[in-house]
Amino acid sequence: MSLKSFFGKPSLQRRTILLTAFGMFTILVILGVSDFLSLRESVNQTLRERLVLAQTVASNLEHLMRQNLMYLQDVTFSKGVNLEDEDLGPEKSALHTAFLRSIFTNVFLLSSSGHLLCMEPPRPALAGADFGNFPPVKEAILTGKPTISNLFEISPQGKKAVFALIPIGKGGRILGLVGGEIDPTGTALVKVIQPVKIGETGYIEIIDGNGFVLASTKLENILRESDHGGSLSNLIKTGQTRVGTCHSCHEEAVTEQPKKEIMAFTPLSEILWGVNIRQSEREALAPVENMKRRFFAFGFILSIVALILTWGVAQSVIAPVKSLIRSARRIASGNLFEPISISGDDEIGQLGKTLDEMRVKLKDSLDEIGRWTRELERRVDERTKEAFSLYEELRRKEEMRGELLRKIISAQEEERKRIARELHDEMSQTLTALLFALEAVREASLSKAVEEKMGSIRELVLRAIDGTHRMIFDLRPAVLDDLGLSAAIKWYAEERLKPLGINIYFEGDMFEVRLPTQIETALFRVAQETITNIAKHSEAENVIINLELGNGLFTLEVEDDGKGFDMEGISDTKEGSRGLGLLGMKERVLLLEGTLEVQSHPGSGTRVVVTVPLREVSQ
Ligand SMILES: Nc1ncnc2c1ncn2[C@@H]1O[C@H](COP(=O)(O)OP(=O)(O)OP(=O)(O)O)[C@@H](O)[C@H]1O
Ligand SMILES: [Mg+2]
Repeated sequence: MSLKSFFGKPSLQRRTILLTAFGMFTILVILGVSDFLSLRESVNQTLRERLVLAQTVASNLEHLMRQNLMYLQDVTFSKGVNLEDEDLGPEKSALHTAFLRSIFTNVFLLSSSGHLLCMEPPRPALAGADFGNFPPVKEAILTGKPTISNLFEISPQGKKAVFALIPIGKGGRILGLVGGEIDPTGTALVKVIQPVKIGETGYIEIIDGNGFVLASTKLENILRESDHGGSLSNLIKTGQTRVGTCHSCHEEAVTEQPKKEIMAFTPLSEILWGVNIRQSEREALAPVENMKRRFFAFGFILSIVALILTWGVAQSVIAPVKSLIRSARRIASGNLFEPISISGDDEIGQLGKTLDEMRVKLKDSLDEIGRWTRELERRVDERTKEAFSLYEELRRKEEMRGELLRKIISAQEEERKRIARELHDEMSQTLTALLFALEAVREASLSKAVEEKMGSIRELVLRAIDGTHRMIFDLRPAVLDDLGLSAAIKWYAEERLKPLGINIYFEGDMFEVRLPTQIETALFRVAQETITNIAKHSEAENVIINLELGNGLFTLEVEDDGKGFDMEGISDTKEGSRGLGLLGMKERVLLLEGTLEVQSHPGSGTRVVVTVPLREVSQ
């Protein structure tokens, strides 16, 4: 799985894990920041405490040194002390008292030139020794002020010591110096710092103005220059405190990694010394480090627990959801029989129950629909069968009707032919014979009146002959049998329309092909009815008759410019009251499997188009 697909469209499970992990991460960051701030505060607190301790020790040390300077000062005020006389007895006694009270390894009296006048405890070997070259002595004589010196060498053997000196003056003149020596290798100064215990690695040092160690709870450091001597010397001179971390650079094993230490340094306020407290950072900040370690361990465990919980929560939510998805897919694929197996009253359980109710209802609905569909199909089947049998019956009846119609028409035609023949053979012959007889009677008659009467009778007989001929012609024009369809139509149109003053225009073929008698008769009857309708109803002036026979198709097109009629009106008219001409035309054309089209509008003439297929006929 690529990262893109992981983060692109995260699933519910991934979203849950991501969100919870993000939440946990945020909590851890907040805890981390707050712990970091607490740790820093804790470190600062530890450093502040060290500084306060250093200041306390410095204050004690200063008090001690001030007190000892006072003991020296007391020498100058002791009874009988006078450096201008020769008697050193009172001075010795005063020095003895000062020695007993002070921390000095010895106290002494120097002349104004720095020569030793007397010392307590007495050191005869040094009698008259010149201390004037010692830097603190020089300085005290020069400034005339009490001095507590830095560490300096007092013997050719390299012995080092610290001097406290009080000048004795009179009228602005230095008469001598009272001094005390402090041996750094002794216990005088160490006593001040020793009571303070700072863990396993902590130690306190008293540093002089040059950065040398005057006293230390780490004894091996005494008399050495501090590893930070230069900077401590500066701090003493400028009167600054310093607290922070540093490296212990003066360990013997220089190859070792320098140890990290914390350092709190404070200078004394009146003496150019300082107190330095140092401790390994590991020990000093152990609580902080422990807190840090606890935090990381706690954070790690918390993260693992959170991840496991997140996974568990995601699983407990996602597993039923996945089961629901499977069930929903099963339903979507049409399997409605298997119930949804999600239990419990929580939201997902309720969703499962609702989905199952939906499944049951859907199944019931589908069953119901299935039942109805089957019922509907059964009914449709029944109706279809009924309709089919009805259709079959209708078709059969229609066939019978057509057959009947055909028989009627052919019987009608036969009857017309017979009547026409009878009329021609009997009536027409008789009337002609009657006409000849009348003629003979008229010629033989001598009476004018009879002749006239016979003449009018003759007229009547002629009219009867004419009428009989027209009847014969209407019943069955001989021209149809003799000359064929197109000639018969042309002849009939001229006979029927010309007398009415209607112009006739013929177009198309005047074909001479003979069609089966039945077809010729039917088509002639259709043309006859069309022409008769023009004569009867159209009031037309011009008629165009177009006859065509080709490609197995007979077409008759008759168009007049008469008054036309409303087709709708015709069809709306009640059955009994309307003419049967058009209907008859339609029936005949249908029997020939052709089409009849009548186009007419009031005031815009009428156009009749008859099309009949003639499969067996070729031109
Ligand atoms: N060429 C035409 N011009 C104007 N009107 C026409 C034309 N042909 C038919 N009609 C109208 O259509 C009607 C129906 O014609 P149809 O031939 O069916 O009946 P008919 O001619 O009135 O009676 P018959 O049964 O004697 O034919 C006619 O009454 C007439 O009004
Ligand atoms: Mg008609």
